[in-house]
Amino acid sequence: MRCVIANDHGAVELAQKLIKHLNERGIEVKYLGTDKNESVDYPDQAEKCAKEFLKGGYDFSIVLCGTGIGISIAANKIKGIRCALVQDSYSAEMAKKHNNANMLSFGGRIEYKEDPEKILDAYIDAEFEGGRHQRRIDKISALEKG
Ligand code: RB5
Repeated sequence: MRCVIANDHGAVELAQKLIKHLNERGIEVKYLGTDKNESVDYPDQAEKCAKEFLKGGYDFSIVLCGTGIGISIAANKIKGIRCALVQDSYSAEMAKKHNNANMLSFGGRIEYKEDPEKILDAYIDAEFEGGRHQRRIDKISALEKG
């Protein structure tokens, strides 16, 4: 499996934590930074991550900012991206099963009630259910076309 990750200055530590976990799971990570605490703008990081993901060859992608909110809003403006701002294992599992999200968003300043690694695992280990959920995703794609 391969994934691409980008974050702003609000989530440097959490990004490193998730990368370590993914590496331990044998998942290849392309990391686009930032690994520094100097301020960067989350829409730029969202764009970088989305464009790299859309080149192909990746199974999923992850974006992170302080709350996960701004970067997920920005990422979802990019055609083809379905970015889920996950809160817990349940929402992460459903993000795959029902929404077939191709990007997850986390917040480096959020106190999750579970380990973020566990939340990420719930997404990775789930499978898209297709059927009526595919029909709904097709409707999301139609919205992108205006
Ligand atoms: C940056 O300070 C902060 O606004 C950003 O990381 C994020 O939380 C925005 O949604």
